[in-house]
Amino acid sequence: MSCGTFSGEDKTVSATVSVAFARGFRHIKSYRGPHHPLGMTEFARRVEQVSISGIREVFDAAGEDAINLGIGQPDFPTPAHARRGAIEAIESGQSDAYTSNKGTRSLREAIAAKYDRTYGLEVDPEDIIATSGGSEALHLVLQAHVDPGEEVIFPDPGFVSYDALTTIANGTPKPVGLREDLTLDPAAVEDAITDDTAVFVVNSPANPTGAVQSEEDMREFARIADEHDVLCVSDEVYEHIVFDGEHHPPLEFAESDNVVTVSACSKTYSMTGWRLGWVVGANPRIERMLRVHQYGQACASAPAQYAAEAALTGPQDPVDEMVAAFEDRRDVVLDGLEDAGLEVPKPEGAFYVMPKVPEGWCEEVLERDVVVVPGDAFGANGEGYARLSYATGMEELKDALEIIDAATQAVR
Ligand SMILES: Cc1ncc(COP(=O)(O)O)c(C=O)c1O
Repeated sequence: MSCGTFSGEDKTVSATVSVAFARGFRHIKSYRGPHHPLGMTEFARRVEQVSISGIREVFDAAGEDAINLGIGQPDFPTPAHARRGAIEAIESGQSDAYTSNKGTRSLREAIAAKYDRTYGLEVDPEDIIATSGGSEALHLVLQAHVDPGEEVIFPDPGFVSYDALTTIANGTPKPVGLREDLTLDPAAVEDAITDDTAVFVVNSPANPTGAVQSEEDMREFARIADEHDVLCVSDEVYEHIVFDGEHHPPLEFAESDNVVTVSACSKTYSMTGWRLGWVVGANPRIERMLRVHQYGQACASAPAQYAAEAALTGPQDPVDEMVAAFEDRRDVVLDGLEDAGLEVPKPEGAFYVMPKVPEGWCEEVLERDVVVVPGDAFGANGEGYARLSYATGMEELKDALEIIDAATQAVR
């Protein structure tokens, strides 16, 4: 393919956004470079099949004073003791060199201790790789376990990376719809499994829905991984942001080594910019994932590893305070959306809510300068929904809810 294929990419942002709405955000090409007269060589097919997430395009389209309910990261500072961990490592020269490929032993011990303290799970620090965020961890899992054409089952609507990383791994995406309450039904996963299934992804608390899977569901996911000999990837980056019920990792219930757990400091400690996550799995799996990590990344950023260790081993009150603030906001947002007449499955974790919305609602709300993300940005079954993030201060949220109320009346 020559670069000529990208002609017309210098659209205005608003044109891009209307294209994004029309196409459900799934096929936006982001290339904006110069069109050299001699063109360029072709690109890999599997990369041509993915596009830059359309969510960013919605942000770009919003006015300067817009209230942004599209954001996927906490609006709190990284805890001071985590920052200090990095500062001390930098100043002492400790973080100048590569660490072990898996990450420093002391960080992996801190991660293992967290699993023990939170869930009573015994994890060997040798069975952990520290990664550049949960994103790299998901990439490692799929690269190490998916052969060309093999299927990866994931929730739809679901976090945008599952589909894209499956395609980048040359696998076949198998999105599965959700229950009315927006949780993933283990029976639906089991029905979707074929001889070609390599992996199914579970994400609780979930992006974009805020839904939390029950303990019973998590037991079922573990059973399915055991019985069907398929890998269960449990994406637990929101594991500590739970308001109702409790988070149970499928790892608690698995009797085989067919569960791999992905998590990160990103959301729990408001450390999205630090890029520090991890993957936990049986040692033979870790050794395969390490091959991908070693050649693609060498090791996670050393200063970030020291910050993460300090975050995990230090006081956890900043997490409790943040979660309490999110819960207050969840209640206000839920009331506000219901008062506006919208049907809203009650989110029990993370910091997202996903109401059912009438046709034209997202455009109307965006036009009134409140940024929300149309549900179909997260998969075909997200159509007719919108994702709102409440990682925004209470006053702004209340203002946004008033605007949303008026916008909802306007499109009814
Ligand atoms: C469900 C889910 N998994 C993984 C990630 C990636 O997190 P990180 O920033 O640690 O790469 C995100 C980020 O938004 C997410 O929502």
